[in-house]
Parts: sequence; C-alpha cells; structure tokens
Amino acid sequence: MGLEPDSFPIRTLRHRAKLHIPAPTESFKVKTVLITGASGGICSEAARILIDLGAERLIFGVRNLDKGKKLAEELTGNFKDGDGPEILVWSLELKSFASVREFAQKAASLPRLDNVIIGAATALNERKVSEEGWEETLKINHLSNALLTILLLPTLASSAEKYKINPVLTNISSWSILSSGFFAKKWWKVRKGDLLKNISYHTKPAGSGLEYGHSKIVYLYFIRELCDKLDKGIDEREGSIIINSVDPGTASTYLTELFMAKGPQSLFLKYIRRPTEHCARTVVNACIPRLETHGKLIVDLSVSTYPKYMEKPKGRQVQTGFWEETKAALEKFSPGVSPYFDDIEAGRYPTPSHKESHANPSIQDSVVTEGNPETPES
Ligand SMILES: NC(=O)c1ccc[n+]([C@@H]2O[C@H](COP(=O)([O-])OP(=O)(O)OC[C@H]3O[C@@H](n4cnc5c(N)ncnc54)[C@H](OP(=O)(O)O)[C@@H]3O)[C@@H](O)[C@H]2O)c1
Repeated sequence: MGLEPDSFPIRTLRHRAKLHIPAPTESFKVKTVLITGASGGICSEAARILIDLGAERLIFGVRNLDKGKKLAEELTGNFKDGDGPEILVWSLELKSFASVREFAQKAASLPRLDNVIIGAATALNERKVSEEGWEETLKINHLSNALLTILLLPTLASSAEKYKINPVLTNISSWSILSSGFFAKKWWKVRKGDLLKNISYHTKPAGSGLEYGHSKIVYLYFIRELCDKLDKGIDEREGSIIINSVDPGTASTYLTELFMAKGPQSLFLKYIRRPTEHCARTVVNACIPRLETHGKLIVDLSVSTYPKYMEKPKGRQVQTGFWEETKAALEKFSPGVSPYFDDIEAGRYPTPSHKESHANPSIQDSVVTEGNPETPES
C-alpha cells in the first residue's frame, strides 16, 4: 500500500494553474440555481457568472445571512428595477441537520429548480465534535451535504417532469481526494460498519487538514453510489436528474488560506493556484446539462477518471460501506429520511409525498431583490 504517482500531483496542479479556463457561454435564461456556500470565494464567483449568463433566480444557502444579503445586493446593484435576477438568501447551517431539513423544505416550494451546486464546505485546524459526536468536518462536508442531496431530489425530479428538463446537481469536489488517497486505502482494512466512526475518531494528526480530504472522499463515494443506485432504475436519462462532481482546481480562498497562508505552504499555494474566477468557471461548466457527465468526476472542463483507489474492488466495497453507514447515521439523527432511501434503493427518485408536512415557509420570506415575479416557464 504505497503512494501512487497521482497521489500528490504537484506537476499536474501547476499545469492546471496555468491553463486558461474559458468563460462559459451557455445560456442560463429562465433557470433557477440553488447554491450552497454562495458567500464563499468560488461560489460567489459562480453566482456572478450565472447572472451574466442570464439565470433568472438564484437561491443562496448561507450560514451568515448578512454576508449573503450583502453579496446579493452587490450582484444585483447594477440592474435597473425589475431587470435583474431574483436572489433569495436563505439560512443554511450545515452543523445542524434541522437547518438542512428546513432549507430543503423551503426549496420544495420553489416552482422550478434547474441546478443545485453543493459548494459549502469547511476545513478546521482543530478537532471539533458535533452534537451527535461526529468529527465536525465529516458532519458538515459529508453527512449534512448527503442529507441535503437526498432531500432535494424530489424537487429536482418534479422540475424534470414538469419542465421536461435535465436538472443538474453538482458536487464541488477537490484534488484533496488524491492527496488523501493514501489514507483512503487504509479504510480497506476497516471492519464493516466502522468506517465513518474510524474517520471520525482516528484521523491523526487532528486538525491537520486531513479531515477535509477525508470528508471530500466520503461524500464523493456517496454521490457515486447514489448515481449507481439510481441508474439501476432509470434506463432513459432524458428528463432525469444529472448528478456530477467537479474538481475546480485551486484558488486562494478562506478555506485554503486557513492551512496555506504562512511559510512554505503559502509558496506552494501561489504555485498551484489559479484565479478564483477560473475555478468558478469549471463549476458553472459542470452545471450545463450534459448527459455524459452523469455519475462522473469532471476535472476542470473534462470528464475524468476517479482515483485508482476508488476503482479497485476494495474501493467499491468501501463505497457501499459508506453508503450503508451514512444511511444508518441519517436515519438515526434525521428521522423521516428512510422513505427517501427506500425509493433510491429501488432505483426511483424519492417522491414529493415524502416532504414533511409541517412548516412550509413561503419562498418570498427572504427575498432580497425581486426580478421577474412570475413563475419562470421553459
Ligand atoms: N479553494 C480551493 O482551492 C478549492 C479547491 C477544491 C475544491 N474546493 C471546494 O470549493 C468549495 C468552495 O470553497 P472555497 O474555496 O470557495 O472556500 P470558502 O471561501 O471558504 O467557501 C466555503 C463556503 O462554505 C460555507 N460554509 C462553511 N461552513 C459552513 C457551515 N457549517 N454551514 C453552511 N455553510 C458553511 C462558507 O460560509 P461563510 O461564507 O459564512 O464562511 C462559505 O460560503 C468547497 O466545497 C471546497 O471544498 C475549493
């Protein structure tokens, strides 16, 4: 079990840093795009691009509403009254499963949903534990994002049917799935049922950034298993949900600077980073509905291969292990999610009937700017 040549791809990262990533030109007119972590470096740039491309309505899922609203005002400031996109700023705190459920429920009241960008993520330089006992990075970057993904499927599926579109859910992944791959191979030896616990309790040295890489790998495994399960039931991809992941390259953002702002690390960051806008362009490119990206990992602008450790039979076993354990964890700590998993296991999208009946907040609650108040039609 050693490092593979692609484990720490410094030359590749440097090469990618120097690549010119062209601005996307595909129209997003009439589209509604939901972005988690919209207030962050890469996703705020993605929002800017989506507005330039004509997106009709953006939903910002943010933990800091003031920050989200300030960004929304800045992005719509140059539009004349009624001309710009509508931006709804909604609270989403991934430390809390209740917040995730509330957010997904609010999204269920949207008349249309074309895209979801799962962009919110954290990196911690100390060990923190969630109220349920999970290492916090694992909870935020994987468990909560997995819950949100599952809960948003009915809303995406009903938009697919109603508007005859292929909505796209995009996970912003990371090249840390390669640099943390050495450790991912150690999971091959972990007893069935203990994978999440192992990562949650035994990542050493704690607070070193490894938790971040681990959480990104686990969520990527989860997304790939989700696609595998849904593909068993869906022969025809027309009118169905496209789910993909994208590695956007490296940018200087709060997240990277936490670990790489000082000393030799800062030189390394300068060596491998690209303009944040270029990272955002890769994200927007992944949002374009292309059937061939479903279930795939996109690196920059092209469909790529998954890391070798994910493709080996043991990697596949670990993937199903993570799926089972994530399902069990969410069923325990977020009651009501079981019917969603039952449908997915049967190769079906979860149905809107699973949406919890209580609290159905109006989508007008947090309107910051109003564009076209009418329901967008295709
Ligand atoms: N920067 C890179 O080089 C790089 C490379 C590969 C992948 N990525 C991925 O790109 C995505 C965006 O990262 P970034 O680099 O733009 O970092 P960033 O600027 O730190 O953005 C992270 C976003 O996640 C939000 N967030 C953090 N913890 C949260 C929580 N508990 N609940 C809800 N939201 C939370 C942050 O909210 P606040 O605005 O309130 O802090 C922020 O909006 C992440 O998924 C990251 O893993 C980044």
